[in-house]
Amino acid sequence: MTPEMQHLIDSLSENHTLTLAQYAALIDHRTPETAAELARRAVAVRQSIYGRDVYVRGLIEISNICKNDCLYCGIRRSSRTCRRYRLTPEEILDCAKEGYALGFRTFVLQGGEDGYYTDPLLCALIGDIKAACPGCAVTLSLGERSRESYQRLFDAGADRYLLRHETADPAHYAALHPQSMSFHNRMRCLYDLREIGYQVGCGFMVGSPGQLSAQLAQDLKFIETFRPDMCGIGPFVPHHDTPFGDKPAGTVELTCFLLSVIRLIHPPVLLPATTALGTIHPTGREWGILAGANVVMPNLSPVAVRGDYQLYDNKICTGEESAQCRGCLERRMESIGYRVVTHRGDVKRI
Ligand code: 5AD
Ligand code: FES
Repeated sequence: MTPEMQHLIDSLSENHTLTLAQYAALIDHRTPETAAELARRAVAVRQSIYGRDVYVRGLIEISNICKNDCLYCGIRRSSRTCRRYRLTPEEILDCAKEGYALGFRTFVLQGGEDGYYTDPLLCALIGDIKAACPGCAVTLSLGERSRESYQRLFDAGADRYLLRHETADPAHYAALHPQSMSFHNRMRCLYDLREIGYQVGCGFMVGSPGQLSAQLAQDLKFIETFRPDMCGIGPFVPHHDTPFGDKPAGTVELTCFLLSVIRLIHPPVLLPATTALGTIHPTGREWGILAGANVVMPNLSPVAVRGDYQLYDNKICTGEESAQCRGCLERRMESIGYRVVTHRGDVKRI
C-alpha cells in the first residue's frame, strides 16, 4: 500500500473525518489491499460496540403505489407494467403479529408515497401494532411528508424513520429525480425527523447512473456531519421498465468498500446489508456484514404481493414465507460466525 493511502486510512480511523478530496482519493485509488485493511478496521470497531450481533428488522412492504416518478425505481408512477397493491391496516397488523411470533421486535413499514395512508390511519395502525406486539419498535419508511405529519406519527408511537437521501449532491439528485422532487425538501424532511426525536436513517445507492467519486465523497461528508442513526446503502440495480433500464448495476466491491468507510466515519451507525446487495451476488449480504454492516432485513410481506414490490429486477426473497426468510438469514449469518439477535436493536449512542 502506498504511504498516501496508509495515511488516509490511519487518519480516517483516528479522526473519523477526511476532506472531500481525500474521500474521493480513497475511492479512486482503492485496491483489494486498501479494501481489506478498511474492512479489518471496520469490523474491529463494530465488534467493540456491537460484538458479533446482527440485528434483524422485519420488513413489511405495505404498498407499491407511489405518486413520485424517480427515474431509477420500478414502482415509479409512470410504470405501466407494475401490478399495484396496497395492504389494509388489518393485513399489515397480521404481518406484524406473525413476525412477532417469529421473534421480531422491530417492524419496518415501507411503501411508496401512497395517499391512502393518511395520518389518522397510520396513527391508529401504529397504536394497534404497539398494543399487539409489546416491546416492539416501529420504523416507518414512507417517504416525504409534512413536519406536522411526522410529528403526529411520532406522537402515535413511531420510533424510527428511514428516508434515504439518495445522493448528497443536488445536481446528481436532479438527474435521478423528476423536477417535481427537490433535494431541499428531502433534506428538510431528514432534519425535521431528527428534531422531532426519531432515530433517523438516511442512505444512498452505489453506482447510480452518472455517479462519480466526487458525488460519493459528498455522501460520505453528509454522513459525517448528519450522523444518522441508520444508513441504508445498496447497489443501484436496473429495473427494465424505467429510463435507467439499460444502465449497469453498482458493484458488491464498491458497496462493501463504502460500508467499511461509513463504519469508520460513524462507528455506532446501524448499517444494513441490503436486499439489493444480496440481489447482485448470492452472498452479497454476507460480504456486507464482513465489511462492517450489522443489520439484516428479512421480508415479512404477504407472499401474495411480494413479487410486486419490484424496485429493481431480480429482487430476492420474493417467494419465501416470512419464517423461511428469517431462517435463511439466520443460517447465512451463522455461516460467517455471526448471530442474529431479535431484541429491538436500538442504536448505541456512544
Ligand atoms: N436499485 C437499487 N435501489 C433502489 N431503490 C429504488 N430503486 C432502486 C434500484 N433500481 C432504493 C432507493 C429507495 C429504497 C427504498 O430503495 O434508494 O430509497
Ligand atoms: Fe429471504 Fe434468504 S433472506 S429468502
